[in-house]
Amino acid sequence: MQMGSGRGLRPTWYEIDLGAVRHNVRELRRLVGPGVAIYACLKRNAYGCGAAPVSRACVEAGADGLAVGNIDDAVAIRAAGIAAPILLYPTCLPDVARQVELLDLIPSVSTVEEAAAWDAALTRPRKVFLKVDVGLLRGGATAAEFPLLLDRLPHLPNLECAGLYGHFFSYGASGAPGHYPRQFVRMQAAVEAARAAGVAVPIAMVSSTNAVLDHPEMDLTGVDPGRLLYGLAGSDSPARRGTFRPALAAFKTRLLIRKAVGPDDADGEAPPFLPRPGMTIGILPIGWGDGLPRSFPAGAGVLVRGRKVPVLGPVHLEHTRIDLTDCPEARPGDEVVLVGRQGTAEIPLAACAAAWGIDETTFHGQMRDHVPRVYL
Ligand SMILES: Cc1ncc(COP(=O)(O)O)c(C=O)c1O
Repeated sequence: MQMGSGRGLRPTWYEIDLGAVRHNVRELRRLVGPGVAIYACLKRNAYGCGAAPVSRACVEAGADGLAVGNIDDAVAIRAAGIAAPILLYPTCLPDVARQVELLDLIPSVSTVEEAAAWDAALTRPRKVFLKVDVGLLRGGATAAEFPLLLDRLPHLPNLECAGLYGHFFSYGASGAPGHYPRQFVRMQAAVEAARAAGVAVPIAMVSSTNAVLDHPEMDLTGVDPGRLLYGLAGSDSPARRGTFRPALAAFKTRLLIRKAVGPDDADGEAPPFLPRPGMTIGILPIGWGDGLPRSFPAGAGVLVRGRKVPVLGPVHLEHTRIDLTDCPEARPGDEVVLVGRQGTAEIPLAACAAAWGIDETTFHGQMRDHVPRVYL
């Protein structure tokens, strides 16, 4: 076990299975074959799992490059001594050009205006990825902008084309695969236009998780999936079958205080809950500031001593109550499981997320960087 951020003083932690991440990258390699570049998408601090350790696992397992949504994650990756190419998705302005040069990052360029600004800010030639807007209307050059960008590129001496990439418009695990062929045509047109303009395209990629699994014909020369690396994708696509294991093995805390409460102990016009005679409650050192829902849904619980016990809402910023009446043997210091196994009992991530009214990817997006991560 290796500790991540936080050094473990706080009695709350995530357990991250880097073996699962390595397995998922190898499984991805098996599916796409040796000739397709894998850029591991590490957005949002590697979907909450820690950009530096996850990027190392990805590179060890054969990823060719890394892609981050935030320059802070690239800083953490380089600080860990990882030298793989890093694509910066469009999230920073050219005023960080000096750090981009020092850290050897590959920025994204979407417009002529942006390309000119990067060219002026850089002190020497640097590879950039041209991003193509295939219909998402986020970063990326539109169909009208892209030819202008190609025309301008040869006049910007500090910009060299590292490749082209785009991102399909699709939401959620099921996505909107019906739109993919139409968007793919736009991507293909951009690649052809670049080549016709004499711009080298060492890598062309548009496939993230849904497309990698459902549309092998859209691999082009690179893919940049995210969710799949963390086990957040269905494994039984009709087009490509793979088994992907969850990177998040557990979310745990420890029982802080145990106390008996009775009907007379509650105060205020609207006490948080009405204590019953003979009731025992437990206090957990974790709250909505640590990613829990503020109003914990009835029926959702946690594991203590291998048994599921209810949460007594509402959840506070850094504290949560649980009902220990039916778990009299619980003691301060006991491990409490929000996601994961305890003895023979288990709360899978999917069940926890469903109980909180979110999906598993949203759960990952809400994982907090101040909560320590333990790497298995
Ligand atoms: C440009 C880009 N590529 C790849 C991904 C990864 O997508 P997924 O997690 O669905 O694989 C994202 C996610 O937001 C993205 O914005």
